[in-house]
Amino acid sequence: MCGIVAAVAQRNIVPILVEGLKRLEYRGYDSCGVAVHQDGVLRRARSTSRVAELDALIAEDKVEGFTGIAHTRWATHGAPAVHNAHPHFSRDRIALVHNGIIENHDELRTELQGKGYVFSSQTDTEVIAHLVDHYYDGDLFAAVKLAIVRLHGAYAIAVFCRDEPHRVVGARAGSPLILGVGESGGENFLASDAMALAGVTSQIVYLEEGDVVDLQVGKYWIEARQGTGETASYARIERPVRTVYAHSGAAELGPYRHFMQKEIFEQPRAIGDTLEGVVRITPELFGSDAGKVFKDIDSVLILACGTSYYAGCTAKYWLESIAGISTQVEIASEYRYRDSVPNPRALVVTISQSGETADTIAALKHARSLGMEHTLTICNVATSAMVRECKLAYITRAGIEIGVASTKAFSTQLAGLFLLTLAIAQVRGRLSDAQEADYIRAMRHLPTALQAVLALEPQVIAWSQDFARKENALFLGRGMHYPIALEGALKLKEISYIHAEAYPAGELKHGPLALVDANMPVVTVAPNDVLVDKLKSNMQEVRARGGELYVFADAGSRITSEPGVHVIRMPEHYGALSPILHVVPLQLLAYHTACARGTDVDKPRNLAKSVTVE
Ligand code: M6R
Repeated sequence: MCGIVAAVAQRNIVPILVEGLKRLEYRGYDSCGVAVHQDGVLRRARSTSRVAELDALIAEDKVEGFTGIAHTRWATHGAPAVHNAHPHFSRDRIALVHNGIIENHDELRTELQGKGYVFSSQTDTEVIAHLVDHYYDGDLFAAVKLAIVRLHGAYAIAVFCRDEPHRVVGARAGSPLILGVGESGGENFLASDAMALAGVTSQIVYLEEGDVVDLQVGKYWIEARQGTGETASYARIERPVRTVYAHSGAAELGPYRHFMQKEIFEQPRAIGDTLEGVVRITPELFGSDAGKVFKDIDSVLILACGTSYYAGCTAKYWLESIAGISTQVEIASEYRYRDSVPNPRALVVTISQSGETADTIAALKHARSLGMEHTLTICNVATSAMVRECKLAYITRAGIEIGVASTKAFSTQLAGLFLLTLAIAQVRGRLSDAQEADYIRAMRHLPTALQAVLALEPQVIAWSQDFARKENALFLGRGMHYPIALEGALKLKEISYIHAEAYPAGELKHGPLALVDANMPVVTVAPNDVLVDKLKSNMQEVRARGGELYVFADAGSRITSEPGVHVIRMPEHYGALSPILHVVPLQLLAYHTACARGTDVDKPRNLAKSVTVE
């Protein structure tokens, strides 16, 4: 999704801006641009191609400057086109980039048109540029403060002015923005993600909701918003400078064709790292107050989106059966807009790879506003907003995930959620020492078990040739493998653009069976668990209608290949942890099908890695 980098320095900062954009590329974008102050005028380069092409354009046009802003855009208002790409200019005096969505842009546009402003894009962002220009009276910082109190919605902005060549002003509300304090030459930076500044500075200030920051060479000044709406005022505030060693986004592909493939194969390492050091189950794995909190709770409310939501759906089975605690899983974007019955004794658990997903953060804040104060996050980014907003946390150690389709983040979330289940079970007196030891042994063995599953790749590649020719697919699972079927279907549709749906297998006869004919491949997740015989009956229902079955069956399930039934044999049934193994061949199936169809696997159309708008 959109990314921001900005700098003030005493050297040409364009290479830093471009490198920052490259580090943010993995978030997904459809256009990009840079603007600088050069020889007394504003200059910019914009492109609907990759940052590498923008770089070539910059070199050709000799765009250079000591002060500048840059952006990768993921279109919300207005098509992906050069005239909609950021930075946006107002009267060749103000240059601005923006992440987020301005909800009252229509009414502001009408007002500004009435004042003579001419719009050259369909974006909501351009209204902010003109609004800043409208309020500009020789002091950019003052103009930005006057403009942002007029905005409804979410924004992180970076803006500079032709008439103040050594100054950049930033502001945030609802979208992340960080300040990077330069380590030499008095230079200072802004970015939407610390990763954009990896290799430039490790001295990071996390701007808080409502902050506005004035950046100049050798100094910066932050003010915090007091109050809301147009009567809000601003007052000086100190924010701590933290040392953050962000990983470089320019991760190496090594022997792999795509980051997604690499990330699928990293899962044994990622799970091993996530569970490293867990020798005993204790609530303190989640924070020093967790013991007290877990004693007080009587239920769990999970809030998440997309793949993280499916991790939550899987965890519901664990939490209710192992820890015996009532669990509700809600899609974050729905939860905040419905009337729910708040329970102050619920543990609110957010799950997020990025820790910056706007819907999940908003749902968390909504839960808190309803009086639910026990908050915990399972998150892959220790420095993210989600971790800062929650009282308790478990940081998964998947490492940076570049592919838009989440893979290792999902399996490590499951590992974190399984630990959470055991810790709550322990506090509730439902985990004996022997059970604890058994579960820890099983978790320790997971990396080895995952290696055995990854070795099935050649068989999955053979299947993917069939899938590449299809336009629809059904996925079936039962019990805690139903969310795994959902995740398999999401993976296939995200990267291969094949329409895929998942159903609990028992639900087939209540409607979706009507879709089944010889052209419908039906992927079946078939662990050798207590539901396997029921599942076999559901498979018969498919076969009787000519449907072609592709079954991932555990050894010992006595499901064998026959005409119309293709079987890939999984290792022995892995008990409660089986979902972590069964998701892997589904990831591989989606990946190889997408490769066979020639799609942009790591950056599928229309999607972004980190969804920071509502
Ligand atoms: O960063 P998050 O885990 O909060 O992201 C949530 C979803 O946007 C994400 O899982 C999305 O569904 C992925 N593209 C799935 O592969």
